Amino acid sequence: MLKNLKVGVAMTGSFCTIPQVLPVVEDLVKEGCDVYPILSEIVSVTNTRFIQADELIRTLEILTDKKVITSIKEAEPIGPNKLLDILAVIPCTGNTLAKLANGITDSSVTMAVKAHLRNDRPVVLGPSTNDGLGANLKNIGLLMNMKNIYFIPFNKDAPHSKKNSLIANFELLKPVMESALEKKQYQPVLM
Ligand SMILES: Cc1cc2nc3c(=O)[nH]c(=O)nc-3n(C[C@H](O)[C@H](O)[C@H](O)COP(=O)(O)O)c2cc1C
Repeated sequence: MLKNLKVGVAMTGSFCTIPQVLPVVEDLVKEGCDVYPILSEIVSVTNTRFIQADELIRTLEILTDKKVITSIKEAEPIGPNKLLDILAVIPCTGNTLAKLANGITDSSVTMAVKAHLRNDRPVVLGPSTNDGLGANLKNIGLLMNMKNIYFIPFNKDAPHSKKNSLIANFELLKPVMESALEKKQYQPVLM
């Protein structure tokens, strides 16, 4: 069902999660999806102990055979050109969740989401944030009630050491996308 679909994969600055999301992107390519990579500005320039920015860009460009979108200007045509069938934000930071819930469009990824939603097409969010049950819980609630927004099921990440932390189960991306394309939220959304 996903074969030949045009899939946007937008990564935001949950740096420790990006290495675990890369195999999921690889799997989409193997499935025959036409994957369009998008990085938030911070991800496109920041080297951390988890990932080197240049290496990530190179890996994604080789994997998808596309230039990575890293700016609002490059993301804007997603709307008028109806570039994507579905867009997944994996991982999605607390920062990006908060912006999406409140209509703020000041990054490549929030621009990609806004442009894509204009076309009445589905967006899948895979949260990974230490304030998921804290400052961002209200934003997750707002987004769950928003048209064309779907969540990858998530659970608590290290509940004893990080009491408000949430992380999506990224291995479920494909079935979540299939449901989202039928305008349904994959369940159970809480693991
Ligand atoms: C090493 C490192 C790890 C981070 N991990 C996370 C994370 O897992 N989740 C999160 O929401 N923010 C995390 N952040 C903070 C975000 O990168 C920061 O809020 C940034 O502004 C996000 O921008 P973006 O949403 O446009 O990518 C981390 C930052 C650093 C430097």
